[in-house]
Amino acid sequence: MSVLHPTTLRAELDRVTDHWTPRVIGRVNDQYVKVAKLLGEFVWHAHDDEDEMFLVVSGDLRIQIEGEQDVRVGPGEFFVVPRGVRHNPVAEQEVEIVLVETVTTAHTGDVVVEGTVPIDRQVGSFDATP
Ligand code: NI
Repeated sequence: MSVLHPTTLRAELDRVTDHWTPRVIGRVNDQYVKVAKLLGEFVWHAHDDEDEMFLVVSGDLRIQIEGEQDVRVGPGEFFVVPRGVRHNPVAEQEVEIVLVETVTTAHTGDVVVEGTVPIDRQVGSFDATP
């Protein structure tokens, strides 16, 4: 299925059932657009070669940044974690986000943990073929 129709973030987020499990909803050149629901604490990691954008749709996301003060990102706000910077997202209550990440970005960056979701599972049924 090629995506030649508009969709809404609400509809795409409603299809997400598991926390910390990004779902690819679009591809823009070499970037994936993803939606995800977060709850609790993730894992400290870094993406050596890729910046990572968090756009908060609902809830309040706290992002721990190594050596810096925590960043708080609220609804409608976005934050870009620069490449190479160790970070750990924390959602004290459920947070819904949009992520923009290079197609090669690994879920948990330089670490692999039980909750790591490989990219093929994030892509799921999405087909970026034009
Ligand atoms: Ni990350």
